[in-house]
Amino acid sequence: MNVTEIFDSMDYGPAPESNTEALKWLADRGNNFGHYIEGKFTKHSKGFETKNPADGTVLAKLSQGSLNDVNVAVAAARKAQTKWARLPGHTRAKYLYALARLLQKHSRLFAVLETMDNGKPIRESRDIDIPLVARHFYYHAGMAQLMDSELPDAEALGVCGQIIPWNFPLLMLSWKIAPAIAMGNTVVLKPAEYTSLTALLFAQICQEAGLPKGVVNIVTGDGATGEMIVNHPDIDKIAFTGSTGVGRKIREATAGSGKALTLELGGKSPYIVFDDADIDSAIEGLVDAIWFNSGQVCCAGSRLLVQEGIAERFYTKLKSRMQGLRIGDPLDKCIDVGAVVDPVQLKTITEMVEKGGAEGDVFQAGEIPDKGSYYPPTLITGLHSSAYLMQEEIFGPVLVATTFRTPAEAVELANNTRFGLAATVWTENINLALDMAPKLVSGIVWVNATNLFDAAAGFGGVRESGFGREGGWEGLRAYTKAKSTTKPLKKVSAETVPENPEVSGIDRTAKLYIGGKQARPDGAYSNAVWSPRGALLGHVSLANRKDVRNAVEAAANAKGWSKTTAHLRAQILYYIGENLSARADEFAARIHALTGVHAKNARAEVETSISRLFTYAAWADKLDGAAKAVPIRGIALAMNEPVGVIGCLCPDEFPLLGLISTIAPAIAMGNRVVAVASEPHPLAATDFYQILDTSDVPAGVVNILTGNHSELCAPLAGHANVDAVWCFSSTDLSAQVELQSAANLKRSWVNNARSRDWSGSEGEGREFLNQSVETKTIWVPYGE
Ligand code: NAI
Repeated sequence: MNVTEIFDSMDYGPAPESNTEALKWLADRGNNFGHYIEGKFTKHSKGFETKNPADGTVLAKLSQGSLNDVNVAVAAARKAQTKWARLPGHTRAKYLYALARLLQKHSRLFAVLETMDNGKPIRESRDIDIPLVARHFYYHAGMAQLMDSELPDAEALGVCGQIIPWNFPLLMLSWKIAPAIAMGNTVVLKPAEYTSLTALLFAQICQEAGLPKGVVNIVTGDGATGEMIVNHPDIDKIAFTGSTGVGRKIREATAGSGKALTLELGGKSPYIVFDDADIDSAIEGLVDAIWFNSGQVCCAGSRLLVQEGIAERFYTKLKSRMQGLRIGDPLDKCIDVGAVVDPVQLKTITEMVEKGGAEGDVFQAGEIPDKGSYYPPTLITGLHSSAYLMQEEIFGPVLVATTFRTPAEAVELANNTRFGLAATVWTENINLALDMAPKLVSGIVWVNATNLFDAAAGFGGVRESGFGREGGWEGLRAYTKAKSTTKPLKKVSAETVPENPEVSGIDRTAKLYIGGKQARPDGAYSNAVWSPRGALLGHVSLANRKDVRNAVEAAANAKGWSKTTAHLRAQILYYIGENLSARADEFAARIHALTGVHAKNARAEVETSISRLFTYAAWADKLDGAAKAVPIRGIALAMNEPVGVIGCLCPDEFPLLGLISTIAPAIAMGNRVVAVASEPHPLAATDFYQILDTSDVPAGVVNILTGNHSELCAPLAGHANVDAVWCFSSTDLSAQVELQSAANLKRSWVNNARSRDWSGSEGEGREFLNQSVETKTIWVPYGE
């Protein structure tokens, strides 16, 4: 097209970005790559080709990481870790800062290489991906600098295995590597097999920055190499971003290994448009929500919910906007929608639309090139909310849509998904937007904007979108642990039937406590509880899986507790403390009788329990959120929300303190609890429900079961309505809890066969509070 023709048609002329430097960079390396281990590139070994999805040309040959490669990389990371963590934060900060500077210096090469390898438009890689990558390293250089003063009780986890997807290859690398190395960890990272090139260019700048050998190691390969990293015994933490299916496998594979785990998985994020929205802006937002990176975005606004009154007008405008989208060569600076990452992904999208499209009306726009891996922007309207394409993540440029009438219905539809990553709300009514935000079950909410990201703001999901946050102070928790001196777990057993039992003749069987009422166990079985001196103290009900289900149902129904004010929760916790205090002698005598500890120690357990109730009463209204300093004109609010229903296998060793140390932080933060009391010494917990009854605790907020931890563990940890499970039993159940939690990818917190000093500082504090909340980031831009 010449200039005269452009003037005639007023159409965009081509504006190609040069690929010369990127091709030269590849050619200088013989278009062959090994891995990057211990500061050096290994020789190319047997592997696979990486192609440009825009035209199918082969860009380079990559090596398939073998078990030996993974072993060598992990050993290098291990060797480097202690010294790296011991460096002053300032020294680590200087390395991260140097990486940020080098990323900026080579930003165009990174952007072009990313576009060639992934197929995303150069506008996106140049203006979004790479600047955000540099921002992440700058931000975390600051975190390294501040670690010593601001996080004195935290230390690095050790060696981190990191597995990333192909949709934001370098950005996901930066989200993983920057916080990990800032906090003193070393890493073995595996890029996705379709898009490894920018990770290898990043390895080169690690060399240029003089990063100590072994701090960053990059091993290329497919899922098989990923599995080797996941299963490696000398890795302390796995961080994964990718599909929910693989995330679930990784949860199962790491169960009981003691490895820390964070999962950032898929989504089907709602994009809600109210009838008072600025429609043109909402449509431009949608272009970013679903056609940015061809919809291959975990938090893509892929499910449009539009208020009925404006639906037809909105669809008409949207279709006309879709017709204006330019699809084609991703290196052309005028292109809106580039190529899909690989023909395999193209096939997945095509087949999904073929399978589910007929349930609605399919509209496709734009001309796609004959060659290369392209899929046209697609809108499917008229789908029922349970339709296949309304529920499944398509991961392509396909928007599905339905309508709603009221805000309440919008919330219902938005939350009708097994995912919970992000949500967008479009309305000119700020009251409505801020009323919606807490009601949406998701880790992120964007108000009158979409797909905003920043290193200072936490990113991550709930439900089957995974757990853990990336970015901000909250993201550092994924790469640190509390400094502590735990001891191996010691089994606490119940007293066995004595040879000469002292039996009083009165049968007292403590019932279960479900939904604010005493409940007989479904199985009608009970156990005798003996004191170490051989006295029969009473009988305790043995709960079974049916009782677990009843307790979870009661907890799920007590939703009001999560919405009540923190002030009210504080008052109730103080009241529980006061009522326990009034019966302190009785509880001390009970603990003494149950455990045989000295009367003084039993009394101390009660006093510490009362103090702990006061601690969490104090915290109930003080775990503040934050307004994040993000580089937009607006704010990103970090709000601490309750996790939901928490199932807890309580410590065996402190019959009362163990129960209170776990339920008090949970309820202070607005959760409802199903607690399984100390197995050998359950009677302090069953006495305690009388205290709950007299302290205005609403029915269902705390449910107490007694029985065998090993038997109750699976039904509790596997229950779909339990949002998090904690395990502090003296029976080593960590593996089972983590394995069962994979079913709905709930958060888990287990003791990994280590015991904790419940009577000291390890028994309370921020760790408990952090486990009791989800941080939701709500983005609210300002201005007209
Ligand atoms: P994937 O989850 O299989 O791949 C992500 C990463 O995990 C890659 O590095 C891969 O090599 C690695 N991997 C695969 N199997 C593994 C295993 N068993 N153990 C350890 N690592 C393993 O995603 P895939 O197949 O590339 O895409 C499939 C679907 O996943 C997409 O259609 C999309 O729906 C979804 N997806 C979601 C992403 C997100 O950010 N939420 C990112 C990528 C894909």
